[in-house]
Parts: sequence; structure tokens; C-alpha cells
Amino acid sequence: MLGRIDHVGIAVRDLDQAIQVYERRLGLRAIARERLEAEGIEVAMIPIGESRIELITPLSPASKVEKFLQDRGEAVHHVAYATDDVGAALAKAGAAGAQLLDEVARPGAHATRIGFVHPKSLCGVLTEFVEADGQPGA
Ligand code: CO
Repeated sequence: MLGRIDHVGIAVRDLDQAIQVYERRLGLRAIARERLEAEGIEVAMIPIGESRIELITPLSPASKVEKFLQDRGEAVHHVAYATDDVGAALAKAGAAGAQLLDEVARPGAHATRIGFVHPKSLCGVLTEFVEADGQPGA
């Protein structure tokens, strides 16, 4: 049901600077950037093989990512697994005892559908299920 790691999310203070760091130091290239006003975040996607690095920065003090940065500093924020059915992946994890942050799939960045599982249910790692649209960098 879970096919591969779709992306690893990294919380950053300054998105422009973080993109430069990853481009210069690792030779990667950010190709997609999107503001998610409802989530209070801006994200940049950096393709790497069949996966992506997702750099995330808060747009407002109320953002959960702002709280994460205050608590932990810049760090890995979540791991996202590709699935062809986010709702089914959430239901299966929930039935197996995981605490769900989303009971049903909701819209994510770049025309995806996503859902999250609480970090305390997966060894401290905030976990995302994502239905990818098959576009590189989507
Ligand atoms: Co993500």
C-alpha cells in the first residue's frame, strides 16, 4: 500500500537561504514552490531520484511549523510515504492503533491529497501519506 518515500520535509527559517544551501552544497535544484495560506506555510520541492526534499517555512506565528522551529530548531519535520489511496492508508494505520491527525484525506501542495499520523504513534516522526500525481517535482 505504501510504495516509496515520497518526500522528507525539513523545517527551515528562511526558504530562499535554505534553497541556496541545498542547491550549492548538494548540487540539487528546487523546481516547485508554493504558498499554502490555509496551513500558514510556504514549501519548496527539490527532486532527488524518485523522491523529493520538501523545505517548509512558516508564513505566520500561528503556523504549527513556527512552533516546531521554536521547539526543535531547523530539523527534519516529517517523512511522507507515497500511496495510491490516502484514505485507506489512514484507516489502516488508525485500525492498527495509530493516532491520526487527519481522519480523511485533504488537499496538499501541488495538487496532491495528504493525511498525517501523530509522531508519537511512529517513534517520534510526524508521518504523512500522500497521493502523488505522477509529475516530477509535484
Ligand atoms: Co510533506
